[in-house]
Amino acid sequence: MAAGKHTSIVVIGASGDLARKKIFPALFALYCQRLLPDPWHVFGFARTEFTDATFREAIAQHLTCRYSPDGECDLRMGEFLGRCRYVSGAYDARDAFLDLYLKMRDVEQHQPANRMFYLAIPPSVFLDVAHAIGDAGLVACGQREPWSRVVLEKPFGKDRATSDALAHALAQVFVEDQTYRIDHYLGKEVIQNLLVLRFANLVFEPIWNRQYIERVEIVWKEDLSLAGRGGYFDQYGILRDVMQNHLIQILALVAMEPPARLDAASIASAKVETLRSVAPLELAEVVLGQYQAGEVRGQSFPAYVDDPTVRKDSRTPTFASARLKINNARWEGVPFVVTAGKGLDARMTEIRIRFRPVAANMFCRDDVYTCPEPNQLVIRVQPDEAIYLSLTHKVPGMGLRLQARNLDLQYKAAFSELIPDAYESLLLDILRGDRSLFIRHDELQAAWDIFTPLLHTIDQQQTSPQPYAFGSSGPGSSSA
Ligand SMILES: NC(=O)c1ccc[n+]([C@@H]2O[C@H](COP(=O)([O-])OP(=O)(O)OC[C@H]3O[C@@H](n4cnc5c(N)ncnc54)[C@H](OP(=O)(O)O)[C@@H]3O)[C@@H](O)[C@H]2O)c1
Repeated sequence: MAAGKHTSIVVIGASGDLARKKIFPALFALYCQRLLPDPWHVFGFARTEFTDATFREAIAQHLTCRYSPDGECDLRMGEFLGRCRYVSGAYDARDAFLDLYLKMRDVEQHQPANRMFYLAIPPSVFLDVAHAIGDAGLVACGQREPWSRVVLEKPFGKDRATSDALAHALAQVFVEDQTYRIDHYLGKEVIQNLLVLRFANLVFEPIWNRQYIERVEIVWKEDLSLAGRGGYFDQYGILRDVMQNHLIQILALVAMEPPARLDAASIASAKVETLRSVAPLELAEVVLGQYQAGEVRGQSFPAYVDDPTVRKDSRTPTFASARLKINNARWEGVPFVVTAGKGLDARMTEIRIRFRPVAANMFCRDDVYTCPEPNQLVIRVQPDEAIYLSLTHKVPGMGLRLQARNLDLQYKAAFSELIPDAYESLLLDILRGDRSLFIRHDELQAAWDIFTPLLHTIDQQQTSPQPYAFGSSGPGSSSA
């Protein structure tokens, strides 16, 4: 990038997991590819006491050299860390933010500078920090340079009302166009490819509708227990933590109409339109589960409620499967079955598009042949990104024997390029001011409208989740 205004990247909550494992490594990867807009500096801010030197040591532990030529890694790391500074203080302390301001002005050489504020902190301190940043005079108004942008991670509230209240309070410091709500699934390669796959290939769009598609499944599985990290999860549960955001965002991209243009506003509007056509979920359309103790490959795992960070009487679901209806001309009558669970038998995220059977299929007559399975398109988001389409074929040899085989695109084999981490793509887009992969406020509202009545019913009725064994495929009656 050509030299321009100074860019200051401020990571609030710099001592945390997200900052150390995702944000700093992604910034380093961008630096190694010369994608950070020079001149730039990174500032970490948190309550933990670090000097610049100990902060750099903490960051360095998670940096990797995927993009550095052999032999240059140490040099690149040294250069990168040399531009990282640290300020410690409380999240509501005016003095600490003034200290940050002075350090930033120093490296910005007292010139107007672009500034990104990444709030890698729990939502309970979002507003304190936003106000402290505003009060310290760190935020520039307007869309032109120098720009100020704020980056937020989920959870964005616990229902429609709390989400709106948070958005309203934040808007007093950062307007919507300055606000980048991250859903890191939107930064994943396969998810970014959905738009291209659907709208740049002739074969899909004509059949991407109720006439040819029987059912869509979006499945998110994790094979881990909470292992002492239940404090946050127990307050939110799987519906809020995974389904209302990651899986609904995927659903919107699978189901939306073609956007008028490829800009952020058109894409967000197409997604909002689709999400507003999704009927709010009812309890009868949802299966909830909570994992019990189980054994995987000889290792025992405790029940969810036996995790020391979880309430003993917790009814928080660790599994949910929901049958969503999209009431529009394209999807009327096609179930979108969305499933998410922790403590299951695998770690993966997949989109499965199941097509309708061939009408009056000649191979299904008279019990002569095994009736072919309908075609299925599978888009595997993680692990091992892949897209495959199952088709029925004649097995080579004498006679006519039918078998399903996949047309198979494995990303690692098909593309020689490195697959970037989602945070690398997202951070670069923020620096460039491209909001296409971020969640607009009305999208967030539409997503909450699908779940809020259900969440209130579950809370009011104190619905008990069904038990399932850790390491299994979920509760017995979970096939929606
Ligand atoms: N980790 C992930 O991969 C991930 C994924 C999606 C979303 N998120 C979201 O991103 C944010 C940060 O995630 P994280 O995993 O890095 O969180 P974290 O490690 O729990 O917290 C980040 C930092 O915030 C400070 N902090 C923690 N609890 C606090 C409290 N109760 N009051 C004030 N400060 C507190 C701590 O820094 P000091 O004590 O030094 O101030 C901590 O190092 C959260 O909102 C999380 O929900 C994280």
